[in-house]
Amino acid sequence: MLQGCSYSFEQSGVYVLMGKNGSGKSTFLRIAALLEMPDAGNVAYFSNGIAQAHDIELRRKITLVLPKIGMFNSSVYHNAAYGLKVRGISGQAQAQRVSEVLNFVGLRHKIRQNALTLSSGETQRLGIARAIAIEPDVLFLDEPTAFIDDDNTRIIENIILELKKEQKTVIIMTTHDHLQAKRLGDAMILMNKGQLHDSLLSPHV
Ligand SMILES: Nc1ncnc2c1ncn2[C@@H]1O[C@H](COP(=O)(O)OP(=O)(O)O)[C@@H](O)[C@H]1O
Ligand SMILES: [Mg+2]
Repeated sequence: MLQGCSYSFEQSGVYVLMGKNGSGKSTFLRIAALLEMPDAGNVAYFSNGIAQAHDIELRRKITLVLPKIGMFNSSVYHNAAYGLKVRGISGQAQAQRVSEVLNFVGLRHKIRQNALTLSSGETQRLGIARAIAIEPDVLFLDEPTAFIDDDNTRIIENIILELKKEQKTVIIMTTHDHLQAKRLGDAMILMNKGQLHDSLLSPHV
Protein backbone atom coordinates (compact mmCIF):
# COMPACT_ATOMS: atom_id res chain seq x y z
CA MET A 1 0.00 0.00 0.00
CA LEU A 2 1.22 3.49 -0.83
CA GLN A 3 1.07 6.12 1.89
CA GLY A 4 2.17 9.71 2.18
CA CYS A 5 3.05 9.88 -1.51
CA SER A 6 2.37 13.56 -1.96
CA TYR A 7 4.89 14.96 -4.36
CA SER A 8 4.80 17.71 -6.97
CA PHE A 9 6.68 17.44 -10.21
CA GLU A 10 7.65 20.39 -12.38
CA GLN A 11 7.10 20.43 -16.14
CA SER A 12 10.60 19.34 -17.07
CA GLY A 13 13.64 17.70 -15.57
CA VAL A 14 14.46 14.16 -14.50
CA TYR A 15 13.16 12.78 -11.21
CA VAL A 16 14.70 9.52 -10.08
CA LEU A 17 12.69 7.28 -7.79
CA MET A 18 14.75 4.74 -5.86
CA GLY A 19 13.97 2.10 -3.28
CA LYS A 20 14.05 -1.61 -2.54
CA ASN A 21 12.17 -4.20 -4.57
CA GLY A 22 8.55 -4.22 -3.46
CA SER A 23 8.71 -0.73 -1.94
CA GLY A 24 5.96 0.44 -4.32
CA LYS A 25 7.83 2.28 -7.08
CA SER A 26 6.08 0.60 -10.01
CA THR A 27 2.72 0.92 -8.26
CA PHE A 28 3.38 4.63 -7.80
CA LEU A 29 4.27 5.04 -11.49
CA ARG A 30 1.12 3.19 -12.65
CA ILE A 31 -1.07 5.32 -10.40
CA ALA A 32 0.68 8.57 -11.36
CA ALA A 33 0.37 7.58 -15.05
CA LEU A 34 -3.39 7.18 -14.48
CA LEU A 35 -3.29 3.50 -15.42
CA GLU A 36 -4.50 2.38 -12.01
CA MET A 37 -6.83 4.04 -9.51
CA PRO A 38 -5.54 4.64 -6.00
CA ASP A 39 -7.73 3.25 -3.18
CA ALA A 40 -7.42 6.65 -1.52
CA GLY A 41 -5.96 10.00 -2.48
CA ASN A 42 -5.74 11.47 -5.93
CA VAL A 43 -3.41 12.43 -8.73
CA ALA A 44 -3.65 15.97 -10.06
CA TYR A 45 -2.21 17.35 -13.28
CA PHE A 46 -2.10 21.10 -13.67
CA SER A 47 -1.87 23.24 -16.75
CA ASN A 48 -1.32 26.96 -16.13
CA GLY A 49 -2.39 26.41 -12.53
CA ILE A 50 -5.65 24.69 -13.51
CA ALA A 51 -6.27 21.07 -12.46
CA GLN A 52 -6.92 18.95 -15.54
CA ALA A 53 -9.75 16.43 -15.88
CA HIS A 54 -8.57 12.81 -16.12
CA ASP A 55 -9.85 12.50 -19.65
CA ILE A 56 -8.46 11.03 -22.82
CA GLU A 57 -6.78 14.34 -23.70
CA LEU A 58 -4.74 14.23 -20.50
CA ARG A 59 -3.97 10.50 -20.81
CA ARG A 60 -2.60 11.13 -24.26
CA LYS A 61 0.07 13.43 -22.81
CA ILE A 62 1.34 10.79 -20.40
CA THR A 63 3.17 7.59 -21.19
CA LEU A 64 4.77 4.78 -19.20
CA VAL A 65 7.55 2.55 -20.51
CA LEU A 66 7.99 -0.74 -18.66
CA PRO A 67 11.09 -2.93 -18.45
CA LYS A 68 10.74 -5.94 -20.78
CA ILE A 69 8.15 -3.98 -22.69
CA GLY A 70 6.16 -5.97 -25.24
CA MET A 71 6.38 -5.41 -28.98
CA PHE A 72 3.90 -6.39 -31.68
CA ASN A 73 4.84 -9.03 -34.22
CA SER A 74 5.48 -6.50 -36.95
CA SER A 75 8.17 -4.14 -38.15
CA VAL A 76 10.13 -1.69 -36.03
CA TYR A 77 8.38 1.02 -38.06
CA HIS A 78 4.88 -0.18 -37.14
CA ASN A 79 5.78 -0.54 -33.48
CA ALA A 80 7.22 2.96 -33.32
CA ALA A 81 4.19 4.34 -35.20
CA TYR A 82 1.61 2.79 -32.86
CA GLY A 83 0.89 5.84 -30.68
CA LEU A 84 0.76 8.11 -33.71
CA LYS A 85 -1.70 5.80 -35.45
CA VAL A 86 -3.95 5.76 -32.37
CA ARG A 87 -3.90 9.56 -32.44
CA GLY A 88 -4.89 9.67 -36.10
CA ILE A 89 -1.47 10.74 -37.40
CA SER A 90 -0.84 8.93 -40.67
CA GLY A 91 0.91 9.23 -44.02
CA GLN A 92 3.87 11.52 -44.45
CA ALA A 93 3.59 13.10 -40.99
CA GLN A 94 3.69 9.65 -39.40
CA ALA A 95 6.62 8.47 -41.52
CA GLN A 96 8.56 11.65 -40.75
CA ARG A 97 8.05 11.41 -36.99
CA VAL A 98 8.87 7.67 -36.89
CA SER A 99 12.05 8.34 -38.82
CA GLU A 100 13.01 11.10 -36.36
CA VAL A 101 12.44 9.05 -33.22
CA LEU A 102 14.17 5.97 -34.62
CA ASN A 103 17.12 8.18 -35.47
CA PHE A 104 17.01 9.58 -31.95
CA VAL A 105 17.32 6.10 -30.38
CA GLY A 106 19.76 4.83 -33.01
CA LEU A 107 17.42 2.32 -34.66
CA ARG A 108 16.74 4.02 -37.99
CA HIS A 109 18.69 1.30 -39.82
CA LYS A 110 16.40 -1.40 -38.36
CA ILE A 111 13.18 0.22 -39.53
CA ARG A 112 12.08 -2.76 -41.67
CA GLN A 113 13.20 -5.46 -39.24
CA ASN A 114 10.62 -7.41 -37.24
CA ALA A 115 10.55 -5.91 -33.74
CA LEU A 116 10.49 -9.36 -32.12
CA THR A 117 13.97 -10.05 -33.52
CA LEU A 118 15.59 -7.10 -31.69
CA SER A 119 17.92 -7.57 -28.73
CA SER A 120 16.71 -6.57 -25.24
CA GLY A 121 18.60 -3.29 -25.42
CA GLU A 122 17.20 -2.45 -28.84
CA THR A 123 13.71 -3.44 -27.70
CA GLN A 124 13.96 -1.06 -24.77
CA ARG A 125 15.17 1.71 -27.09
CA LEU A 126 12.22 1.01 -29.41
CA GLY A 127 9.90 1.21 -26.39
CA ILE A 128 11.29 4.66 -25.64
CA ALA A 129 11.00 5.68 -29.31
CA ARG A 130 7.36 4.57 -29.34
CA ALA A 131 6.70 6.56 -26.17
CA ILE A 132 8.37 9.79 -27.29
CA ALA A 133 6.90 9.66 -30.82
CA ILE A 134 3.75 11.26 -29.42
CA GLU A 135 5.76 14.02 -27.69
CA PRO A 136 4.38 13.30 -24.22
CA ASP A 137 4.41 15.97 -21.53
CA VAL A 138 5.14 13.31 -18.93
CA LEU A 139 7.31 10.27 -19.53
CA PHE A 140 7.50 7.54 -16.89
CA LEU A 141 10.37 5.08 -17.29
CA ASP A 142 10.23 2.06 -15.00
CA GLU A 143 13.77 0.62 -14.69
CA PRO A 144 14.72 1.60 -18.26
CA THR A 145 18.12 -0.10 -18.03
CA ALA A 146 17.26 -3.23 -16.05
CA PHE A 147 18.31 -6.38 -17.98
CA ILE A 148 20.29 -4.18 -20.41
CA ASP A 149 24.03 -4.42 -21.20
CA ASP A 150 26.51 -1.56 -20.67
CA ASP A 151 26.51 -0.32 -24.26
CA ASN A 152 22.72 -0.09 -24.45
CA THR A 153 22.59 1.41 -20.97
CA ARG A 154 24.91 4.18 -22.14
CA ILE A 155 22.75 4.78 -25.22
CA ILE A 156 19.57 4.90 -23.09
CA GLU A 157 21.20 7.28 -20.60
CA ASN A 158 22.17 9.54 -23.49
CA ILE A 159 18.60 9.45 -24.82
CA ILE A 160 17.36 10.54 -21.38
CA LEU A 161 19.98 13.31 -21.19
CA GLU A 162 18.97 14.56 -24.67
CA LEU A 163 15.31 14.62 -23.68
CA LYS A 164 16.27 16.49 -20.53
CA LYS A 165 18.12 19.08 -22.60
CA GLU A 166 15.03 19.67 -24.77
CA GLN A 167 13.02 20.57 -21.62
CA LYS A 168 9.72 19.58 -23.21
CA THR A 169 9.03 16.57 -21.04
CA VAL A 170 9.21 15.74 -17.37
CA ILE A 171 10.79 12.32 -16.88
CA ILE A 172 10.04 10.27 -13.79
CA MET A 173 12.15 7.13 -13.72
CA THR A 174 13.15 4.33 -11.39
CA THR A 175 16.54 2.65 -11.14
CA HIS A 176 18.62 0.64 -8.68
CA ASP A 177 21.82 2.21 -9.96
CA HIS A 178 22.94 5.10 -7.70
CA LEU A 179 25.56 6.34 -10.13
CA GLN A 180 23.01 6.40 -12.92
CA ALA A 181 20.65 8.35 -10.66
CA LYS A 182 23.40 10.92 -10.11
CA ARG A 183 24.26 11.09 -13.80
CA LEU A 184 20.66 11.66 -14.90
CA GLY A 185 18.63 13.07 -12.05
CA ASP A 186 17.74 16.63 -11.13
CA ALA A 187 16.03 15.28 -8.04
CA MET A 188 16.11 11.97 -6.24
CA ILE A 189 13.17 10.57 -4.33
CA LEU A 190 13.39 7.56 -2.05
CA MET A 191 10.53 5.14 -1.65
CA ASN A 192 10.42 3.02 1.46
CA LYS A 193 7.51 0.72 2.28
CA GLY A 194 5.12 2.69 0.11
CA GLN A 195 6.21 6.10 1.36
CA LEU A 196 8.05 8.80 -0.56
CA HIS A 197 10.93 10.74 0.96
CA ASP A 198 13.02 13.48 -0.55
CA SER A 199 16.52 12.16 -0.84
CA LEU A 200 19.26 13.91 1.06
CA LEU A 201 21.68 12.91 -1.64
CA SER A 202 22.31 15.60 -4.16
CA PRO A 203 22.48 14.14 -7.64
CA HIS A 204 25.14 16.68 -8.56
CA VAL A 205 27.85 15.77 -6.02
N1 LIG B 1 -3.17 -3.57 -6.99
C1 LIG B 1 -2.48 -4.09 -5.98
N2 LIG B 1 -3.10 -4.62 -4.91
C2 LIG B 1 -2.40 -5.11 -3.88
N3 LIG B 1 -1.05 -5.12 -3.80
C3 LIG B 1 -0.38 -4.61 -4.83
C4 LIG B 1 -1.03 -4.06 -5.96
N4 LIG B 1 -0.09 -3.60 -6.83
C5 LIG B 1 1.11 -3.87 -6.25
N5 LIG B 1 0.93 -4.47 -5.05
C6 LIG B 1 2.02 -4.89 -4.13
O1 LIG B 1 2.70 -3.72 -3.72
C7 LIG B 1 4.08 -4.02 -3.48
C8 LIG B 1 4.94 -3.02 -4.26
O2 LIG B 1 5.12 -3.47 -5.58
P1 LIG B 1 5.88 -2.61 -6.71
O3 LIG B 1 5.18 -1.32 -6.87
O4 LIG B 1 5.98 -3.48 -7.90
O5 LIG B 1 7.30 -2.36 -6.06
P2 LIG B 1 8.69 -1.96 -6.75
O6 LIG B 1 8.40 -1.50 -8.13
O7 LIG B 1 9.22 -0.87 -5.85
O8 LIG B 1 9.56 -3.17 -6.72
C9 LIG B 1 4.28 -5.46 -3.88
O9 LIG B 1 4.29 -6.24 -2.71
C10 LIG B 1 3.08 -5.75 -4.76
O10 LIG B 1 2.73 -7.12 -4.73
MG1 LIG C 1 9.12 -2.13 -9.94
